Amino acid sequence: MKKILVAGGMGYIGSHTVVNLIENGYDPIIVDNLSNSNIEVLNRINMITGKKPAFYKVDLCDYDKLENVFKENDFVAAIHFAGLKAVGESVEKPLMYYQNNLISTLNLIELMEKYKVNNLVFSSSATVYGDPISVPIYETFDLHVTNPYGRTKLMIEDILRDYCKVHKEFNVALLRYFNPIGAHPSGLIGEDPNGIPNNLMPYITQVAIGKRECLGVFGNDYNTKDGTGVRDYIHVCDLAYGHVLALDKLFTNSGLVTYNLGTGNGYSVLEVLHAMEKACGFKIPYQIKPRREGDIATCYANCDKAFKEIGFKAKYNIDDMCRDSWNWQKKNPNGYKK
Ligand code: NAD
Ligand code: WQD
Repeated sequence: MKKILVAGGMGYIGSHTVVNLIENGYDPIIVDNLSNSNIEVLNRINMITGKKPAFYKVDLCDYDKLENVFKENDFVAAIHFAGLKAVGESVEKPLMYYQNNLISTLNLIELMEKYKVNNLVFSSSATVYGDPISVPIYETFDLHVTNPYGRTKLMIEDILRDYCKVHKEFNVALLRYFNPIGAHPSGLIGEDPNGIPNNLMPYITQVAIGKRECLGVFGNDYNTKDGTGVRDYIHVCDLAYGHVLALDKLFTNSGLVTYNLGTGNGYSVLEVLHAMEKACGFKIPYQIKPRREGDIATCYANCDKAFKEIGFKAKYNIDDMCRDSWNWQKKNPNGYKK
């Protein structure tokens, strides 16, 4: 079986991708320092797939420990999810973000070169487009970033573009995710944020379950259908499958490829809230608050390139996403914590 190194595979998107890799006949080997994830994820993956993947509790910033993982395994590819991802925190602690996200990636690329592992899928983000000149957003749009988190994503993209110019044997898929939400339909794995959620969906489900009082809607005076921010939400299982498709592309010796992964549809904050009310069957309290600094009005993808080149098409709609997010929250009111 083909071994895939899954860096950050214990996290939200990584764990769903590990399930997909197993279901598609791969042997995922997870490397994660558990800084934003829980060991219980391994049991849950086992419950879904009947297989407990190999796991190394290793920080990617620790070159020697990461090298041991390469010595012990013959990888055909790596998928790199490992990174810190909270925009606000990155503004407060820029060095922590540059250190963690950049050093981990440099170590990974260096070891991939040393051990001749020539295929890499990297978790980039729609954040690299900043405030786009128009929507939908195409991969060819200019890249602008406005915070240290986003800058780490753009820097890593640039590093990989530079690297691929001279390493023709190296294949990279830069996957620019839009807004992943939802959870595995089993309700066994899902998003488990620490503390107060930054993102919309986990905040809504925590209000719905009674852990928080009321959703703050950040601004209702944007130039959008109802004044609230519009985003391209994508079910995490669709996103996970996108990684399996991207791997197939890399194995054709593709060089560096870049894909938007979204649905191509934009939903406002209030539309998502109402879709969630439908999923749980009751009203969810909310209050209009001032705009959140750094937010943009509208962001959604054009995903034609991913469809044409790797056959990617999201199959879950917003109601499916809300149903599965709610199912996960209900079954795991405290996330993975016992
Ligand atoms: P997550 O925090 O749930 O998963 C990241 C995992 O990486 C965690 O398990 C964490 O413990 C691990 N990790 C972090 N630094 C590490 C290090 N130095 N060594 C080893 N492990 C480390 O995040 P996620 O939502 O699953 O996101 C995965 C990737 O996708 C991230 O790179 C993120 O920036 C990117 N992304 C996420 C979103 C989103 O909205 N969730 C959107 C676009 C891009
Ligand atoms: C969605 C909408 C908010 C919370 C972030 C990162 C981005 C990417 C995905 C990693 C916006 C509104 C939110 C709340 C609200 N991550 N909102 N009340 O900001 O589109 O993207 O996650 O790469 O880089 O910036 O996602 O879920 O935070 O917000 O009204 O309590 O919901 O204003 O319009 P965002 P989000």
